[in-house]
Amino acid sequence: MNSFRFYNPTALYYGKGQIESHLAEEVTRYGKRVLLVYGGGSIKRNGLYDKVQHILADAGVTLFELSGVEPNPRLTTVHKGIDICHSENIDLILAVGGGSVLDCAKAIAMGAKYDGDVWDIYQRRGQATDALPLGTILTLAATGSEMNAGGVITNWETKEKLGGGSPYTFPKFSFCDPENTYTVPQDQTVYGACDMLAHCFEHYFHPTHHTPLQQHLIEAVIKTIVEHTKAALDNPHDYDARETLMYCSTMALNGMISMGINGDWACHAIEHEISAIYDIPHGGGLAIIFPQWMEHTKNVNPTRFATLATNVFGVDGAGKTDAELADIAIAKVRAFYQEIGAPQHLADYQIGDDQLERMASQAVRFGEIGNFKKLNKDDVFAILQASL
Ligand code: NZQ
Ligand code: ZN
Repeated sequence: MNSFRFYNPTALYYGKGQIESHLAEEVTRYGKRVLLVYGGGSIKRNGLYDKVQHILADAGVTLFELSGVEPNPRLTTVHKGIDICHSENIDLILAVGGGSVLDCAKAIAMGAKYDGDVWDIYQRRGQATDALPLGTILTLAATGSEMNAGGVITNWETKEKLGGGSPYTFPKFSFCDPENTYTVPQDQTVYGACDMLAHCFEHYFHPTHHTPLQQHLIEAVIKTIVEHTKAALDNPHDYDARETLMYCSTMALNGMISMGINGDWACHAIEHEISAIYDIPHGGGLAIIFPQWMEHTKNVNPTRFATLATNVFGVDGAGKTDAELADIAIAKVRAFYQEIGAPQHLADYQIGDDQLERMASQAVRFGEIGNFKKLNKDDVFAILQASL
């Protein structure tokens, strides 16, 4: 494995009753002027908004609000949040929602302390040197944003969706109560599963020598996602399934299973280009792209795909070549997506071939992408074309 430094300071509160017992104490550690950031209203419909308001009012907290954070959060919304932080002298940002709300809050936290436009940081033209403290209450198991420092913001004017972060944007604390995901609709539950699975794949397919523990940890998370998604879809109030998926989402992207690995991340870069233009759900785009990426790269290291078939999907490898097992692994991945009802083609989102060239160029704007296999513009174009 590679040499590495691991750092993750987020305090995690997992399970039922943690918000009631510990939210006030965590929030007031940072002050009493709090910017509550949330999305399009799901937290109002399921009662979480009222709960948070009551707890914080009792603790003497003054709440300011930024609502309406979009899925694929927009830079314009981030700017609004930064303005509130400045005008209201905010002490802490509290993000209540899915990955989009958390990512928007991270951008606001960095932007409030950045001398210039926070978009510089996402364009790799600037670096954060500080951020306002941020806490989160997660309502959707998917991104892992609750325990990492990254976030993804869309500049809708320029049709760019870029990731960014800093050591200052780890949430100070995150509350993950699986009951808050009971109301996540079927499609978003599917997208969430596809996203966390994709994070595992991004780690699993890498060029780093000798990483047996990482391999088995990642396999365990993939297996657990595959085993529990259907149960959450069949019964959205299945606590055990929701809890397990939530824990998988956190583990898939908090750095714990991927230390010392050069993960691939090409599929994420490609998906972000699709979302940037067509505003599709991130997990849906990944479900479409990943099998095509696997077809495109399987010959780089068929053994890696073979272990996915045998160790995760329980395929009997006896008498089969790695190349045969690689094809079986890809078929198993496709079958899982099909079973849970994930999209399989760009056409499922009415996306045709007219912007493939633009998406391929933009995906490699900072250079070739991917580590398992380096992809140039032609590779990306081929993957997108195969995804139609
Ligand atoms: O806006 P509201 O009304 O809250 O509704 C949301 C939204 O419409 C709804 N939802 C969330 N929790 C709910 C709920 N509806 C009912 N009950 C609940 N408990 O779900 C919809 C989608 O929410 P969103 O936050 O967009 O989903 P997700 O968590 O999948 O986040 C996607 C965003 O995260 C980025 C993606 O690119 C995308 O922009 N990512 C962030 C990462 C990170 N920070 O580490 C890594 C990922 O790879 C990803 O790129
Ligand atoms: Zn993702």
